[in-house]
Amino acid sequence: MSKVGAKGPGGLSFRSHHGRVSAPMHPRIQVPLPGLQAKMPADAVRRFENEFGCEPAWLAWAPGRVNLIGEHTDYNEGYVFPAAISLGTWVLACPAEHETRVVSMEEGHGASFQARTVAPGQVEGWSRYVAGVAWAMGGAMEIHALTGTDLPIGAGLSSSAALETAFARLWDSLDGGMRDDLEIALACQKAEHGMVGVQCGVMDQMASIMGKAGCALFMDVRSLTVEYVPLPAGLSIAICDTGMPRTLAESVYNERRRECEEACSALGVRSLREVDSKMTNLGSLEQRPGLRASHVVTENDRCREMATALRDLNRERIGELMRDSHLSLRNNYAVTTVELDEMARAAQESQGCWGARMTGAGMGGACVALVETEHVEQFSDDVLRKYRASTGQRSGSIRMVSVSNGAASGAWSQPKTPSRIASKNTGS
Ligand code: GLA
Repeated sequence: MSKVGAKGPGGLSFRSHHGRVSAPMHPRIQVPLPGLQAKMPADAVRRFENEFGCEPAWLAWAPGRVNLIGEHTDYNEGYVFPAAISLGTWVLACPAEHETRVVSMEEGHGASFQARTVAPGQVEGWSRYVAGVAWAMGGAMEIHALTGTDLPIGAGLSSSAALETAFARLWDSLDGGMRDDLEIALACQKAEHGMVGVQCGVMDQMASIMGKAGCALFMDVRSLTVEYVPLPAGLSIAICDTGMPRTLAESVYNERRRECEEACSALGVRSLREVDSKMTNLGSLEQRPGLRASHVVTENDRCREMATALRDLNRERIGELMRDSHLSLRNNYAVTTVELDEMARAAQESQGCWGARMTGAGMGGACVALVETEHVEQFSDDVLRKYRASTGQRSGSIRMVSVSNGAASGAWSQPKTPSRIASKNTGS
């Protein structure tokens, strides 16, 4: 529960136009994180001061994620293999007296709400994601906040989760950093279910909170455990964005969940995790639930195998697993688009590529590719040329990302003075 107003041993003082407000900070998590301030655009602080009439007191940042393999398996208690990326969402904030106000650099003014008591149904628009976090955390301190992101919205890189986890990390730090990472991730998932109405799994929020530089996260979503698997040296991650907005993404997502549930009740199992790909009774299912279940059980196998293939630097196997994953998402799960299929094919056939597939929920968005670092330029040129030629689209972009630590928060300090940062991670 919230300990708003408590003056803990590590309490810091902040000046606002309402007077002096003391915010509790846990001394254990005050570590320097100078990289955090560098993630904000130059005009962010001026914009903050214009909006709220005071200096920011705190700063938080949370990464988006890319999923290497294990798609649409998390809500079936299966395996996933995401990595937190260097693109993400930042929040500048100061204490407020009566209500929380949020403003986005991209979306403009959000709703005002009382973070201590907000409940589902009270907030509309993009600020539902933020209000949902306050609600799911059992109430939070009132703040004024400006947020912004360099994540492309709708590309399947979890911009929603990054928004949630940045605020959750900040509010938890202001509470004394009492919650563990899993608790924070689950609260963010609850926010999305309860306040936004998307029945998402927990992969995105766990990756954004628990990310580790240089590592992919092999997660077992039944036991909610994470194993960090270092990415091979000399291999880079490319985000191959189709530039086509996702269509029907939320409704198709919820429909796929229902179809998986139908498969479970017909098979008499709690989740598709309990179904073995060697079991023959998948054939007894109706056509749609059967196809969906077939994707999930084979994708779990591929995800487990990917952990081994990455450790063994087995280029050929990595390529096969990613290609088969994409094909199954196209043929069995029906969440790819023509553009995603063409982008994946263009990437798979381009120089230096170990493997490529669509990433995220699908229905538009981006593909992920593992590419030899020495070939990234050639790869990017090849892929875009092939993608544009085969689709006739002018859209599309290739972006290399590095693999980052998870969400962090701390005290804001003016540039050139050392910042005092509260985080469970050391910067990225
Ligand atoms: C979205 C959801 C995740 C996961 C993926 C598909 O990103 O938020 O929980 O289900 O789709 O793998």
